[in-house]
Amino acid sequence: MPFSQAEIEEEQAHFANVITTFQQYAAYSLAANNRRRKDLFTLPVADQEILESLKYKEKLAEADRAILANAEFLNQVVANPEIFGHDLDEDDGPEEGPSGGSGGQSTTGKGHPHDHPQTHSHSHSHSHGSHSHSHGSPSAITSVSDTSKRKKYRPTDFDMDKLRSTLKQFVRDWSEEGKSERELSYGPMRDALLQHFADIPPEERGNFRVLVPGAGLGRLAWDVAKLGFACQGNEFSHYMLLSSYFILNRTDEIGKHTIYPYVHSFSNLPSNTAMLRPITVPDVLPSSLPPGSNFSLVAGDFEEIYGAENNEDEPQAGTWDAIMTCFFIDTAKNIVNYLRIIHRILAPGGVWINCGPLLWHFENNSTNDPSIELNLEEVKALARKIGFEISNKRTIDTTYTNNTQSMLGYTYHAAFWTATKVI
Ligand SMILES: C[S@@+](CC[C@H](N)C(=O)[O-])C[C@H]1O[C@@H](n2cnc3c(N)ncnc32)[C@H](O)[C@@H]1O
Repeated sequence: MPFSQAEIEEEQAHFANVITTFQQYAAYSLAANNRRRKDLFTLPVADQEILESLKYKEKLAEADRAILANAEFLNQVVANPEIFGHDLDEDDGPEEGPSGGSGGQSTTGKGHPHDHPQTHSHSHSHSHGSHSHSHGSPSAITSVSDTSKRKKYRPTDFDMDKLRSTLKQFVRDWSEEGKSERELSYGPMRDALLQHFADIPPEERGNFRVLVPGAGLGRLAWDVAKLGFACQGNEFSHYMLLSSYFILNRTDEIGKHTIYPYVHSFSNLPSNTAMLRPITVPDVLPSSLPPGSNFSLVAGDFEEIYGAENNEDEPQAGTWDAIMTCFFIDTAKNIVNYLRIIHRILAPGGVWINCGPLLWHFENNSTNDPSIELNLEEVKALARKIGFEISNKRTIDTTYTNNTQSMLGYTYHAAFWTATKVI
């Protein structure tokens, strides 16, 4: 379905705002740390002296250094945004007030498909290939028509929160530290996939197409490609897409980058290490997929891309052998439509592997989006009505971008299942 000029411009503007958020990270985060410094000076001198003896000021200085290291990393992530095909203006104008239209819970403004050129610089030839999903939308090649009217964007707290979460997502997907968290959810999902295709010799796995919607920073999809399956991740957040592109296509060394994802909050910390410990990424060489691997990440909204019923260029119905949803199905506004799409695009006998909670992302949204919020029993009943046979049901206790050294931690009792398309 072609997009209107207004939609294309909105998408371009949203992309530009995300880039600005990355670029403004240092100023924003240093200012937040400076508030602590200023607060110190409001105290009686005697109290300041006690805190001085505890090296509180040194801790603030270390936090500044960690923030600057993060900023250096984040600036590298967005160093060449033009590779995404969006035209960015120079942003010389006065700052726009904190608006951004980001009051809702969606990660992007619209999440329209746009080109995400996976032009990998890997030395060997996987067919990660440049994968384009323009869907009639010229958004990737059209510039914002009147860029001179765009004012410089001032990132909101909501934007910065997204960016800080992205740093933690790097830990989940691409660090040694994140391994235990990954193994709790990605591990059983990979096992279920291997079990479903147990009769297929490993060298023939490339004939089977696996889709990972809401792929985040791409690790589960990458793991599946590493096992030899043809794997496609799908993601619509620019924060995630810029970051996954950087780690997958621009990172040539294990442990190349050091980030400090826990520096932004001083609460619930047993020690300075809990807050200031460095995390190195990646823990594996992203280019180490076997030669001939078929791995791609497609940018855009899951429902728009895979739900389009009459896309003659790229028909979806019945074309996927497996779909793996990890912490994804609760991003639905209408879960009926999500499950219908998953069912329709699976091949007969295809498998849907799910792991995640039901934290309905649009519950209480401020953007007047509809939100259907089912409980687990209802979701399973819905899946059966749509034509799935559910097996292998269990609960997996797992975390999501947890600081393992914090005094506060959330555990999800995530629902896991394997479902096969029976009708
Ligand atoms: C909770 S995160 C899970 C990420 C990843 N699967 C993991 O387990 O780390 C949900 C992801 O789905 C993406 N997402 C949400 N709605 C989407 C949609 N309609 N189309 C594509 N991606 C979407 C979000 O941007 C986010 O990265």
